Amino acid sequence: MVNKYLAEINKDFNNDIVKSLLSQANNLKIPIITNEGIHFLIQLIKIHSSKKVLEIGSAIGYSSILMALFTDVTITTIERDEKIAKLALKNIKKANLSNRINLIIADANNASIPEDDFDLIFIDAAKASYINFFDKFTKNLKSNGLIICDNLLFKGQVNEPELIKSRNRRQLVKKIDKFNQYLINQENFDSYIYNIGDGISISIKK
Ligand SMILES: C[S@@+](CC[C@H](N)C(=O)[O-])C[C@H]1O[C@@H](n2cnc3c(N)ncnc32)[C@H](O)[C@@H]1O
Repeated sequence: MVNKYLAEINKDFNNDIVKSLLSQANNLKIPIITNEGIHFLIQLIKIHSSKKVLEIGSAIGYSSILMALFTDVTITTIERDEKIAKLALKNIKKANLSNRINLIIADANNASIPEDDFDLIFIDAAKASYINFFDKFTKNLKSNGLIICDNLLFKGQVNEPELIKSRNRRQLVKKIDKFNQYLINQENFDSYIYNIGDGISISIKK
């Protein structure tokens, strides 16, 4: 199996902070970006030389903390769930990254971010709001900046909605498909969706 081979040959983050965040996410059953996804994101930040990141959906701070630990970015991250956000703030403090990660507790649909010079925006929150997030935060992105979206293949279900039994889940994957079509047709961006992690897109602002 290719995945098994890759898991064996690729080096994992050998870092106590990462290990403790992974076990926290696992214990609390909080969804976080996949291992392949976070490696992809970090490599992208390095290739693109991104310095300033806006993240929508912090959860416990795993992706923010890893981006900050393994690159030199500063991050603004938005989380609407107060309980999870407080946990993220604790984790950020424990990792000594409070000076580089600014967590805003708010619904990103209503949050107003004044800066317009982000190099990269990472969208990883409520899938039903992706079109709104994409539209709303485009103005915060520099030209040639990147928008990265996660979960666009949703566990391989987006391409086969008819096989999904739960009505809610079917509605959700239909919304993701709608977003994917929307994304690919944005004329101000060059976009491509990759079968990496749970389905990650890169959109480059023209
Ligand atoms: C998949 S998790 C984020 C995982 C995180 N990026 C990581 O990989 O470590 C999605 C998070 O987005 C938050 N969220 C969902 N909709 C949101 C919104 N409208 N505004 C802010 N946060 C939102 C959820 O509460 C949840 O904690």
